[in-house]
Amino acid sequence: MARSYNIAVLPGDGTGPEVVTEGLKVLKAAASKEKLTLNFTSFDFGGERFMKTGEVLPVNAIDELKKFDAIYLGAIGHPDVKPGILEKGILLKLRFELDQYINLRPVRLYPGVECPIKNKGPKEIDYCCIRENSGGMYTGMGGLSRPGTKDETAVQNMVYTHAQVERCLRYAFEYARTHGKKARGVGPENKLALVGKSNVLTFMYELWNRVFAEIGKEYPDVTREYYHVDATCLYMIASPEMFDVIVTENMFGDIITDLAAITQGGLGIAAGGNLNPEGVSMFEPIGGTAPMWTGKNAINPLAAICAGSMMLEVLGEKKAADRVEQGIMKVIEKDMKSMEAGKMGLSTTQVGDRVAEYVS
Ligand code: IPM
Ligand code: MN
Repeated sequence: MARSYNIAVLPGDGTGPEVVTEGLKVLKAAASKEKLTLNFTSFDFGGERFMKTGEVLPVNAIDELKKFDAIYLGAIGHPDVKPGILEKGILLKLRFELDQYINLRPVRLYPGVECPIKNKGPKEIDYCCIRENSGGMYTGMGGLSRPGTKDETAVQNMVYTHAQVERCLRYAFEYARTHGKKARGVGPENKLALVGKSNVLTFMYELWNRVFAEIGKEYPDVTREYYHVDATCLYMIASPEMFDVIVTENMFGDIITDLAAITQGGLGIAAGGNLNPEGVSMFEPIGGTAPMWTGKNAINPLAAICAGSMMLEVLGEKKAADRVEQGIMKVIEKDMKSMEAGKMGLSTTQVGDRVAEYVS
């Protein structure tokens, strides 16, 4: 029997719908080649809907989305809506309510993509960031007291439970074992680097480091390393080849993955997966809504297409995922001048058409 998956599609705001259209084009082409059935159901969550209805997410949205095998997301955010409302009310809410506790962000420079770091190429920029996606400062715990006075006090807490740390690190060790450089045949060992700030956030990293060492004993085949987050930024530019799999808490992960993205060619190509390994996962280009490019048919859809490939892989469809990735590599090699919006030498639609053609 043909394998079949139900996918919820959230095109969202700005250029989200444009890149999602191209992503779906490619996913359909891959599905037809690999004899999969993908059923897509679209939802209009985002800024336009909020401005029309005053509702950020319908009450039954989470229950509805839980029925799907995966979620394919464009981008959330609207220039006419106060920052935070849609991001917190949609993107973060979905991450939290669906308990997508891993944010997986591969950092891979494809051949032919210009790298802003001198003397570094695809061989050097080939690692992965695992960002904890359910805790830290993102939980919104804290408050503001005595607003408007000189004693006004703002608190935003960084919060982690042992269980949150443990499940994240366990996922990271498994990932390093199965997707590390040795496992992929491109290096002598599988390495997992914990990134933190143990010299200042002493309570937090007492916990993370202890659990890291404890779980690490179950993974003798994974070499353990620790780096401070500031030094990590430096190494990501000076010697990215030293990294294999990185695991870090939510806010540090948010920051370092934008830095990582620019080393792999920018937001036009960087994708991420919000994973609940036991539930419903959500896949997205990490570039945001890019409002100035909306409607111009000039935004790079490759990040969304990469997110589609990642979705196929997580669904267990590795062959279809590889097929899409090959298509991405081919369009970069043969057709595209740049990864930057407006400078690609092709329109958004043309990039999608070419990849779909290569995939078929
Ligand atoms: C990301 C984004 C989000 C985050 C924003 C939009 C809330 O920057 O996915 O990295 O901070 O996680
Ligand atoms: Mn971010």
